[in-house]
Amino acid sequence: MNEIGIGLIGTGFMGKCHALAFGAVDAVFAPPLKPRLENLCDMDADVVRRAADDFGFSRWTTDWREVVDDPAVGVLAITAPNALHREMAVAAAEAGKHVYCEKPMALTLADAEVMTEAAARAGIETLVGYNYLRNPAVQHARRLIDEGTIGEIAYFRGVYDEDYMADPALPYSWRCRVDDAGTGTLGDLACHLVSIAHFLVGRIDSVCADTETVIRERPDPDTSGGTGEVENEDIAHALLRFESGIGGTLASSRIAWGRKCRLAWEIVGSRGSIVFDQERMNEISLFTTDTPKERRGFTTVLSGPLHPPYGQFCPAPGHGLGFNDLKVIEVNHLLRGIAGKESLFPGFADALEIERVIHGIVESACQRQWITGLNP
Ligand SMILES: NC(=O)c1ccc[n+]([C@@H]2O[C@H](COP(=O)([O-])OP(=O)(O)OC[C@H]3O[C@@H](n4cnc5c(N)ncnc54)[C@H](O)[C@@H]3O)[C@@H](O)[C@H]2O)c1
Repeated sequence: MNEIGIGLIGTGFMGKCHALAFGAVDAVFAPPLKPRLENLCDMDADVVRRAADDFGFSRWTTDWREVVDDPAVGVLAITAPNALHREMAVAAAEAGKHVYCEKPMALTLADAEVMTEAAARAGIETLVGYNYLRNPAVQHARRLIDEGTIGEIAYFRGVYDEDYMADPALPYSWRCRVDDAGTGTLGDLACHLVSIAHFLVGRIDSVCADTETVIRERPDPDTSGGTGEVENEDIAHALLRFESGIGGTLASSRIAWGRKCRLAWEIVGSRGSIVFDQERMNEISLFTTDTPKERRGFTTVLSGPLHPPYGQFCPAPGHGLGFNDLKVIEVNHLLRGIAGKESLFPGFADALEIERVIHGIVESACQRQWITGLNP
């Protein structure tokens, strides 16, 4: 069996998710390349030693450059914070390693461009972790659109809300600083929504946006009784115009009390509509005018084996996949892409188009006008 060595940087939320996916992918999908868990990196030796043992990595280190230089590593998975993505990805590309990087690609558009150029120069495969695209329900929606089930698309409306920063008492942290986090809700949440819009509807060409930092100061744990100024946006709203000519809207908030993962969108066509919400990730609502008028209404379609690759996990419809399963599907896509069996989406060049939209929204909000020609 063909194998490829995996190097993983980060053992936090996404690091664990990647490690579990690499551990499960062979049993679930039998990909053409079997991942070999070679080298794991994080900053604290005790943490990374324990994680390497738990996840089944052969070696561990606290110096990410050792993972890049490790001759047994063929793919570098980057789950470190955004500010480190560029340096790690460029070093890996220069060492000829394939790169699997968490979203958003980088802190700045310029950094994302440098990463894309480095990957193209090196001729490596790249994939950015827009895992919500892997949902069998989202893939089913794409097939319905391609088959013309809802006719010509008229518009797209999307929201991505969570409440992880809704509490004003939440302490000031790196997430609040542009130099450490880049954008706020745009880079954390809205970029996922843009990935869905690009996948289902096509590329966004123009935006007219408004952004706002609602909680402007947060208690600073490094000073007694002091506060830190929040530098990036809590909420963003944008009008969209797609390359195809259709319009749409995007809204995102990291302070939306009660919303946990409301990545919700609806696409309305000339003959029907599709509605989805990631908080109910195992279903889509479908309305089509093919149904006789007296029986028309939204139908809830539960994911099942008829919606690939759900059946790889479970033979029974409606029993449901989970968030971590999306990473297993993504890792299978990565390994198939490296083996030349399918082309990877979104690679760095595609993810750069997502970054242009996010940074276009920031620019539009600053200039208070439409920004056009985002993705020429
Ligand atoms: N795809 C998704 O759905 C999704 C969800 C959450 C986060 N993310 C992205 O994943 C990335 C990480 O986010 P997270 O929530 O896992 O953060 P996290 O804080 O839980 O984990 C980050 C890890 O990186 C480690 N780290 C930091 N600096 C390092 C260095 N110099 N060398 C080695 N390790 C280092 C930290 O110690 C930590 O263990 C971010 O880019 C984030 O935007 C993606």
